[in-house]
Order: sequence, then structure tokens, then C-alpha cells
Amino acid sequence: MNVVMLLGSPRKNGNSETLARRVGDTVEQGGGSVGYIRLNDLDIRPCQGCGGCEKTGNCVIKDAMGDIYRQVDEADRILLVSPVYFYALSAQAKICGDRFQARWSRKYLLKERFRQGEGRKGYLLSTAATKGPKIFDCSILSARYIFDAMDVQYGGEFLVKGVDKRKAVLGLPDEMAKAEQFGRDMLAGKA
Ligand SMILES: Cc1cc2nc3c(=O)[nH]c(=O)nc-3n(C[C@H](O)[C@H](O)[C@H](O)COP(=O)(O)O)c2cc1C
Repeated sequence: MNVVMLLGSPRKNGNSETLARRVGDTVEQGGGSVGYIRLNDLDIRPCQGCGGCEKTGNCVIKDAMGDIYRQVDEADRILLVSPVYFYALSAQAKICGDRFQARWSRKYLLKERFRQGEGRKGYLLSTAATKGPKIFDCSILSARYIFDAMDVQYGGEFLVKGVDKRKAVLGLPDEMAKAEQFGRDMLAGKA
């Protein structure tokens, strides 16, 4: 299984990345391969809404997204990893997600389906400082529709509330154990 993780936090080894790497380590131990893409380190322009993708399904902007499209196309499982920023995805995650408008065009305008029947799935992994009941609602909705544009099935979420300081999640062994289980379930096709 080939997994790609789109890391949306600007914080290196923060809570969301720490959880993502625990998931990824478990996948690798089980024989899968994992690629990590730290979006904050890359030059990615926001979608310009130009419609340039409508005839080809490809974005006209030539930047670091080219490699991300390729890695996502090759992946069997995709994790969108983001902290909650003002009740939503981080800007880094959202900018990358918006650029999948090109894949939305491929699917809905050009009616080209991609790797259908292969059971490809996408998941949201997110963390937040507070514990409100709606804290992940906006991120989940965005993630669902970003994965729909990618033409992968939405596999669900892995969410941890109440973590703020960098690596605070390491103080929650139950959540770290759940991250391992999530990795095992993904590999076994149960998640
Ligand atoms: C700009 C910014 C906005 C944030 N907005 C929220 C928020 O609306 N609700 C919340 O619970 N936490 C919010 N947080 C806290 C982060 O979601 C939390 O610290 C998270 O665990 C960080 O994950 P990371 O370490 O992977 O970056 C915000 C943090 C920043 C820097």
C-alpha cells in the first residue's frame, strides 16, 4: 500500500504531524510505503479560478503542485493532515485542496474517472486546542469534497481535541495508541 500524507501545519513535528508519523510508522512496519509532503515548505500558489483546467483536467500553474498531483495520483491512501485554524483547515492545507479543482474538472466536466474500482481512500487527520462539539465540522466538510474531487472515497477522520502546545499529543498515550490502530486498520482495509 502506497500512502501519501499532505502535512498542512507550519509547525514541524507539531501535534498533527506527530500523529501522522505514528500512523505512517505503523503502515511502514506493516509493509506499506509512506510519503510525507510538508506543504508549508513548498511554493504553492492559490487557485486563481481561471478555468484553465476545464478543458484538460490539469492546472495551468506550474509550481510544486505538479509533484503533489503525481504523488496523489500514485497513492492508494491519502491523508490530509491539518490543525484547526479558526474552525477550519490551515491555509496551507486549504490552498493545496483548492488546487484539486483541476481534478474536479477532470471528474465532473470531462467525465474522466480515475483509478475506479481500486478502493482508493482519503482521510482527514486533525488536531485542535479546544474541545467544542463543532470544532472539526468545517474541516471535515472541506476534506470530504477535496477527496471527492480527487476521485477517492472518503474513508473518515482521525481527530484529537484538547492539544495545543507542540507535541502535547505525546502526553496522551491513548491517542498515540489510537493512531497506531488507525494505521493498522488502514493497512488491513478496515479504515
Ligand atoms: C492561527 C491559529 C488558529 C487556531 N485556531 C484554533 C481554533 O479555532 N480552535 C482550536 O481549538 N484551536 C485552534 N488553534 C490551535 C491549534 O489547532 C492546535 O494547537 C493544534 O493542535 C496545532 O496542531 P499542530 O501542532 O499540528 O500545528 C489555532 C492555532 C493557530 C496557530
